[in-house]
Amino acid sequence: MTDDRTAIVSGAASGIGLATARRLAAQGWTLALVDLDAAAVKEAVDFPLEGHLVRATDISDPDQVSGLFAQVEAELGPLKAVANVAGLTVVEDGRIEDVSLEVFDRVVGVNLRGNFLMCKGAIPALRAAGGGAIVNVGSVASVLGTGGAAYVSSKHGLAGLTRQIAYRYAAENIRCSLVCPGPTDTPMIAIARAKGTVPAAPGAIPRDVTADEVASFIAYLVGDDAAMVTGSVHVVDGGMSQH
Ligand SMILES: NC(=O)c1ccc[n+]([C@@H]2O[C@H](COP(=O)([O-])OP(=O)(O)OC[C@H]3O[C@@H](n4cnc5c(N)ncnc54)[C@H](O)[C@@H]3O)[C@@H](O)[C@H]2O)c1
Repeated sequence: MTDDRTAIVSGAASGIGLATARRLAAQGWTLALVDLDAAAVKEAVDFPLEGHLVRATDISDPDQVSGLFAQVEAELGPLKAVANVAGLTVVEDGRIEDVSLEVFDRVVGVNLRGNFLMCKGAIPALRAAGGGAIVNVGSVASVLGTGGAAYVSSKHGLAGLTRQIAYRYAAENIRCSLVCPGPTDTPMIAIARAKGTVPAAPGAIPRDVTADEVASFIAYLVGDDAAMVTGSVHVVDGGMSQH
């Protein structure tokens, strides 16, 4: 199927990525749905997959990422948006003195290096389409020090990468923004809570964010209503990061 609005969504098998896929599909986007396991995407998605592409891609693997962009170019319409939602947190991540280099490399390898590869792949495709949007998913850990040392480093780094891309490519009508969820009701939050790195947040709305509340912001940012929104960091956290 070809459509003049094609988007890639990573992390589409679960949580915020799945909610983003639902939102964009309902708005008529043609999607490339990406996660580590294609079968898990097909099992999770509850809208018709006809016309969409489902592809197993590890975003931290350069060959798999370039294969993804080649397949999207060959099989779908001009790429107008990339929602980089995939990410991970691990229980072994905490105070820096307790974090091994292996854990640091693993977390940064996906959350920062993986999204570096996805953004790098996106630029030529968005340029060919006459411009478009990248939305990276950070975290309140992009703006606060709460979270493990590796996770906080990766998410702060992603904020910097987002701003750098916005600065460099604005003249080509390529936008790049960061959405920073607070604690969100997905499978990932259980890992963060097990680590004890989700602080009580006085003065914040006393519930978790829903995946769909984050997805609605991502859907806004990739769309034409956000045509002048780029280089900015948007928290969706019930007020957690204002204190
Ligand atoms: N849930 C929260 O409380 C929370 C808070 C702040 C930020 N975030 C961020 O939101 C994003 C989505 O998280 P979620 O809560 O939906 O978690 P989730 O665990 O439900 O979903 C993450 C998805 O990313 C996929 N993924 C992981 N590594 C991958 C890789 N190398 N290549 C491709 N896919 C990969 C997983 O398989 C999974 O389907 C992440 O970037 C996360 O850091 C989540």
